[in-house]
Amino acid sequence: MLKSPVVLVHSIHPRNFRNLKSSPTEFSEGANFISGANGQGKTNLLEAIYWLISLRGKRGNIQDAISKGEDWFSIDGNLTFGDLKHTVSLRAEGRSKKLLIDGTTPKRRRDYLQLVLAVDFFPEDLLILIMEPSLRRRFIDLACVQYFLPHEEVLRKFKRVLTQRNSLLKMPGGPNMGVLQTFDTPFAESASEITSARLNLLSQLGKRTDEIFREGIGEKYIAALHYHPSLKNLPDSADFEKQFEPLEFRNKYLEALERSRGRDIDAGRTTVGPHLDDWGMSLDGKPVRTFASRGEVRSAMFALHLARFDVLTGKRGIEPVVLIDDVMSELDSKRRARVLELLPKGQVFLTACDPPPEVVKFASDFAHFEMTAGEVKRID
Ligand SMILES: Nc1ncnc2c1ncn2[C@@H]1O[C@H](COP(=O)(O)OP(=O)(O)OP(=O)(O)O)[C@@H](O)[C@H]1O
Ligand SMILES: [Mg+2]
Repeated sequence: MLKSPVVLVHSIHPRNFRNLKSSPTEFSEGANFISGANGQGKTNLLEAIYWLISLRGKRGNIQDAISKGEDWFSIDGNLTFGDLKHTVSLRAEGRSKKLLIDGTTPKRRRDYLQLVLAVDFFPEDLLILIMEPSLRRRFIDLACVQYFLPHEEVLRKFKRVLTQRNSLLKMPGGPNMGVLQTFDTPFAESASEITSARLNLLSQLGKRTDEIFREGIGEKYIAALHYHPSLKNLPDSADFEKQFEPLEFRNKYLEALERSRGRDIDAGRTTVGPHLDDWGMSLDGKPVRTFASRGEVRSAMFALHLARFDVLTGKRGIEPVVLIDDVMSELDSKRRARVLELLPKGQVFLTACDPPPEVVKFASDFAHFEMTAGEVKRID
């Protein structure tokens, strides 16, 4: 079998990025473990790597990431992707980002994004199954983009149409009906693409999550993912065998817009669409949110994230950089060991305040770093 191209981060040099200092550090091509007390910059380092590979933030926007008192940040990195070593440089200021690959602006950012992949699990991702639906929609939409990069444009188009339609619905004296109807087709088209992409991905994730949850981590319940659409007559479970085509939903959305037009005008907003859908996970048919113990929620989240890593890695044909920020500590040692075995092969960055014993054993190519006041130093 052909080996997939790997993505590796050899070193990064952040400037004006949160509390990070630019220290000359060579990372291991295997496992990198970063320990350090609270508030030293462990999460910031993983976030800087995430920025460089995804060209987007994990926590907040450009302004949040710029060091206090500065007005831009940059991250330079030596990376391997597409079987070659490259220098990648990202500079962000105001709302704009500038990317240089080997000193040259790429024709399309997507050409770069297509060759690199970072899969991540940050502490805030632990809340996805139990907090508000907007977090779940964001999670699945971002996963759809990582699965198929042009999906980003579909999401942008949908957001634009929804915003315009909602402003029209809010007009004093009510909207012009003719103008309102011109939004039906573009709305139905992008809404149906989002819905089918989510269902197709959730169906793949559902199967893999259950395998990992029971066989990989050793839990006892059957895990399943469910989709809860705002659109009537849609299957509400993602446990399907078939592949969904956007066309299947287009007419359903057109009918739904027709049916809800009066309600939308009264409400002053669009009351049907993927912006209102939700999804969730069940264990033996009972919702994780209200049924699972804290440890089981954690296991379920690990199973879901590992499933996402697997599905994305398989689809993209790339060995990604794996970023795991401080989410191992509450797992017991048996589960921790199993989760480490289930990580994708390739380069891994793991953080925790103190190194758990399983971590030290888990890779032969292993480097241990200490983070102190934004400066990362290799200690063994
Ligand atoms: N824009 C910014 N400018 C300057 N400092 C910042 C900025 N954003 C965050 N920080 C600081 O970075 C520090 C390190 O944050 P980080 O989240 O990386 O810590 P950590 O090592 O992961 O800690 P923990 O173990 O508590 O998760 C924090 O003390 C925070 O105040
Ligand atoms: Mg942290």
